[in-house]
Amino acid sequence: MRVLSGIQPTGQLHWGNYFGAIRQYIDLQESNDGFYFIADLHALTTVRSADQLRANTLDIALDLLALGLDPNQATLFVQSHIPEVTELTWLLMTGTPMGLLERCHAYKDKKEKGLNADAGLFTYPVLMAADILAYDSQIVPVGADQVQHIEVCRDLAGSFHHTFGETFVLPKAKTLDVGARVPGTDGQKMSKSYDNTLPLFGDVKKIRKQIMRIVTDSRPVDEPKDPVGDHLFDLYQLFASPDEIAAMAEKYRAGGFGYGEVKKAVAEASEAYFAPARERREELAQDLDTVRDILAAGAARAREVAGGVLDRARSAAGLR
Ligand code: TYM
Repeated sequence: MRVLSGIQPTGQLHWGNYFGAIRQYIDLQESNDGFYFIADLHALTTVRSADQLRANTLDIALDLLALGLDPNQATLFVQSHIPEVTELTWLLMTGTPMGLLERCHAYKDKKEKGLNADAGLFTYPVLMAADILAYDSQIVPVGADQVQHIEVCRDLAGSFHHTFGETFVLPKAKTLDVGARVPGTDGQKMSKSYDNTLPLFGDVKKIRKQIMRIVTDSRPVDEPKDPVGDHLFDLYQLFASPDEIAAMAEKYRAGGFGYGEVKKAVAEASEAYFAPARERREELAQDLDTVRDILAAGAARAREVAGGVLDRARSAAGLR
């Protein structure tokens, strides 16, 4: 199966990115044909410094490799290295109803907050549809927040087919039961735009402080607590074994302990969990040329596939 997904290089990767998406990339890479990319064109809608964007892009490549993405099994590349995708975006754009994009949440949220949105943000889901369709992707592993965009992709492919005939493979979103919506330190969805993220890498002490500041209710220590729907408990679950989760739920219900104890357990478990990747990342950072070579080889392979799909779409639309 062709599996494809992308991540924007808008800053440090966080627990939501890992448990919602990256963990799936790695699980799926061995028995599928994985295409994973760094969505720098999408990031341009928010990152407006060239140096920053370049640095972020290389950082994400390092992160993914350190976390276990294997370039011998999967294809890793940078979105903008495949110009076929932007041409395909235009082909799709000509059949995209304005109303469909007006309902998409990234644009809608910004509008509702009274912020100015540009055409890049408005047409963001069309570029994302082209990303998916350009590689004949069958499965798209993502967090819950991206499922709407994959539905849009299916709609756009469907309307292209209606006008010009069967051309694309229709993709399906894949989300996990645990991890599809990882909460941030304030209980809302973990997201850079809410400033509530816990990063995968970076200064351990700083991350520990952020964990200790996770917002909780103010129930006294000896009162019983409910683990269901508690975001601190949800974060604990990401790192714990089923036995540990059951034991922690029992503690919640019995009372007699403070949330500080759970936070400490989350900090310790998360540090141990990411320690091997942290070490690998430091090694990889010593050899950025190898990382650049991996991205170049990935782009060559991805362009070959996208070129074939674009040819089909051009012919179908009468551009040949
Ligand atoms: P991005 O960069 O915002 O996020 C990357 C991946 O992380 C997931 N994610 C989460 N999962 C669970 N809980 C959270 N709190 C959480 N926060 C983020 C996202 O669902 C995503 O899977 N538009 C995409 C990038 C993209 C893309 C694509 C994805 C561009 N083209 C084609 C798939 C296919 C985005 O902004 O993801």
